Amino acid sequence: MNSRSEASPLSRRGLLTGGALGVGGAVAGAAVGIAATSADTRSAAPVTAGPTAGTDIGTAIEPFHGPRQAGVATDPQAHAAFVGFTLRRGVDRAALGRMMRLLTDDAARLTQGRAPLADTEPDLAVLPARLTVTFGFGPGLYAAAGRDERRPPSVAELPAFGIDRLDPAWSGGDLLLQICADDPLAVSHAQRMLIKDTRPFGSVRWVQRGFRRSRGVQAAAHTQRNVLGQLDGTANPRSGTTAFDQAVWVNDGPDWLRDGSTLVLRRIRAELETWDKLGRADKELAVGRRLDTGAPLTGRHEHDEPDFAALNEAGLPVIPDFSHLTRARVSDDRLKILRRPYNYDGAPDAAGRADSGLIFAAYQADINRQFLPIQRRLAEQDLLNEWITPIGSAVFAVPPGCAPGGWIGERLLG
Ligand code: HEM
Repeated sequence: MNSRSEASPLSRRGLLTGGALGVGGAVAGAAVGIAATSADTRSAAPVTAGPTAGTDIGTAIEPFHGPRQAGVATDPQAHAAFVGFTLRRGVDRAALGRMMRLLTDDAARLTQGRAPLADTEPDLAVLPARLTVTFGFGPGLYAAAGRDERRPPSVAELPAFGIDRLDPAWSGGDLLLQICADDPLAVSHAQRMLIKDTRPFGSVRWVQRGFRRSRGVQAAAHTQRNVLGQLDGTANPRSGTTAFDQAVWVNDGPDWLRDGSTLVLRRIRAELETWDKLGRADKELAVGRRLDTGAPLTGRHEHDEPDFAALNEAGLPVIPDFSHLTRARVSDDRLKILRRPYNYDGAPDAAGRADSGLIFAAYQADINRQFLPIQRRLAEQDLLNEWITPIGSAVFAVPPGCAPGGWIGERLLG
């Protein structure tokens, strides 16, 4: 334990377990104390706290409060940590409410570049780099809260697919924290602080770290590449459009989830050893798009409409019927999904074989209506299946956002 919390007259554990949350005076008093300490620290070390001259990447802030949680429509940041938790036995609705108040308060501070209460390293909070913290409620949370009747029907373990090789080490979870920022240190600090908040209520089930291109490496509007070298995200609904809002946000689901969403998180290993053996043309046929431009095999530019009826000289479809593009295609905007994946790259094995792939995060209003039909088609037939293997799977409801003074999940747990 650090010297500051030992010395603190208001113990962190007491705050967590003693029902002091919501007691405005005590919390506000503590906040003033900590804020003063943080400010002192900052003024003593201004050189290390400041951003690099000429860049606003470190100081950039995403709003925390609002009707919808940040981290879904947010232009994806470069780094992510997905943290899944298992709730402790006996954690009930009141305890979940205390936990979510605490997590909301600390997440709100961290995302705005302010240290949370009792932050042991407050200097690490001053450059949030567009930090967002997005909360998800897994299938087990509703029963713990005595609210199983309010669980959205599609927030349940997915059916088993023939392509799955699921490892429990990457699957399930009662609570999710999706922590994203353009700086890995901001993610790491937020992860550590927020995990501390959860300790009395649950245990860490898994942590999945992922990355995309660093901010500034390419223009923000460009589609990112995944570890297989493909442009990944081309056909996504565009944030700010009606099509996006209809596909991603809950409009007709349970009342408490209005303006929320649902998330399917799949850890999908890329079989890079065999992928490497494939020629460029075969790699392109597997997806139905070109590797360099991301254009469909029937087009020239990334956003050209694919022509599924076009035939080559041999009379075969230019875009194969079993390509990933053909099988995943959805024409009805309301049935699309938002893919917000991150690459992962673990340590290679002793022979140097990569442990790499995608943390595939798909947001949609309804998993049964949108995600499942696509996943069923892909599991049944998709040329890409030869080089990708789902090894983890989890589903969550993503509650709506909250106003200042409110907390995430209050409509379900309050
Ligand atoms: C490691 C696994 C995967 C890889 C490497 C991958 C890669 C790609 C690529 C390169 C594209 C074309 C460019 C684009 O529109 O983004 C694409 C499109 C797409 N993928 Fe995947 N994908 C994977 C898994 C999945 C899964 C699990 C689903 C859903 C169950 C999915 C659904 C889609 C959809 C809906 C599209 C857009 C199709 C359209 O053009 O309408 N993908 N994917």
